[in-house]
Amino acid sequence: MLEKIQETAAWLQARTALRPEVAIILGSGLGNLAKEIDIIDAFDYKDIPHFPVSTVEGHHGRLLFGRLAGREVMAMEGRFHYYEGYSMKEVTFPERVMCLLGITTVIVSNAAGGMNPSFRVGDIMLIRDHINFFPENPLRGQNIPMGPRFLDMHEPYDHKLLGLAKDIAARQGTKVQEGVYLGTQGPTYETPAEYDAYRALGADAVGMSTVPEVIVARHCGMRCLGVSVITDMGGADFIVEVSHEDVQQAAQAVEAPLAELIKELVRVLD
Ligand code: HPA
Repeated sequence: MLEKIQETAAWLQARTALRPEVAIILGSGLGNLAKEIDIIDAFDYKDIPHFPVSTVEGHHGRLLFGRLAGREVMAMEGRFHYYEGYSMKEVTFPERVMCLLGITTVIVSNAAGGMNPSFRVGDIMLIRDHINFFPENPLRGQNIPMGPRFLDMHEPYDHKLLGLAKDIAARQGTKVQEGVYLGTQGPTYETPAEYDAYRALGADAVGMSTVPEVIVARHCGMRCLGVSVITDMGGADFIVEVSHEDVQQAAQAVEAPLAELIKELVRVLD
């Protein structure tokens, strides 16, 4: 496994002169940010050795290297979801590669269903913590020697980055929520009883990504900031139909302020 990761990292390093320290996983809600990146090198996932290929509608598959807010960045335009049938090792392969490329900060976005009754569709939620509800942990199996066998998870989302994001949002006049993200395998959205059950467990929002990527990012010692766009509300008090189209539309509606927030964060990062 480590050999494959090294081969992919070497392949990329031979094809781009950029050496970014920040990576952005452009999930729903951050698609627009790709347009703000001054792209210098772009690689289709299908051309990158050992990379899985994205299949889900609305997710492109490109790895971008460029400049954002005066800083070199790497960005994943589209990600790999467990529900697509990829193994956990495949889902998190890009984060392993990022680590070998010298990335120290990972910013990840997603769309999520809200359970916290004070949330509204269109809210931006900064992720303070997560609950891993996937049927498998990405670190299961032989330990890849990029981190410890038993990984500490007391601060999966970096508190300094979280504080910085909150300060920037306040300065920009963008309302943000803060909360716990529960990651499930999908691809079903939740039943009203499931939304309520996840709420009772302590989650504020639920989605189908991010948790595996953050676990592996932490395993490699990268610090993480996670952002959810609340695209629908669920639970017995919010029994409404949810469609992929609705989710995409709701995520697009906040792309502009979210892109501004992330851009400024990238600019001021230490
Ligand atoms: N549940 C799970 N994943 C999601 C949701 C949801 O309600 N909304 C967007 N992604």
